[in-house]
Amino acid sequence: MRASRRARRIPRATLALALLAIVLTGCKPPSLPDASSPGAQLYVERCGNCHAPYNPHEMTASMWDTQVTMMEVKIQAAGMPPLTSDERESILEYLKHNAGTE
Ligand code: HEC
Repeated sequence: MRASRRARRIPRATLALALLAIVLTGCKPPSLPDASSPGAQLYVERCGNCHAPYNPHEMTASMWDTQVTMMEVKIQAAGMPPLTSDERESILEYLKHNAGTE
């Protein structure tokens, strides 16, 4: 009984604010190319939580290879779950497909 009372004490306004914060920070304006594709969404999910996701145009395909490898070190250092080989592949495919040429 006590526990359920305590749970009800979180004011609605707090919940609404928390939800708003999630919506505001989680749904940035889709300035990324192909933003609704699964690759882009995975990229935002895995690469957009420490900094805003960089636009793929900003680097060449080979730079992205290097960059993702460097970021895997940061991900590990932060104690976040490492990219699976599928995730790595999908993210790189998305980045390279939309990469810049110089
Ligand atoms: C654990 C936090 C974290 C995650 C997750 C993360 N990054 Fe970063 N990223 C950083 C930090 C910190 C920097 C600042 C540069 C540095 O310290 O090397 C950075 C910088 C960058 C830069 C700019 C480098 C430059 O030379 O200007 C790019 C591009 C980048 N990250 C891409 C990615 C990609 C792609 C992913 C997903 C695979 C990713 N990041 C995930 C922490 C993170």
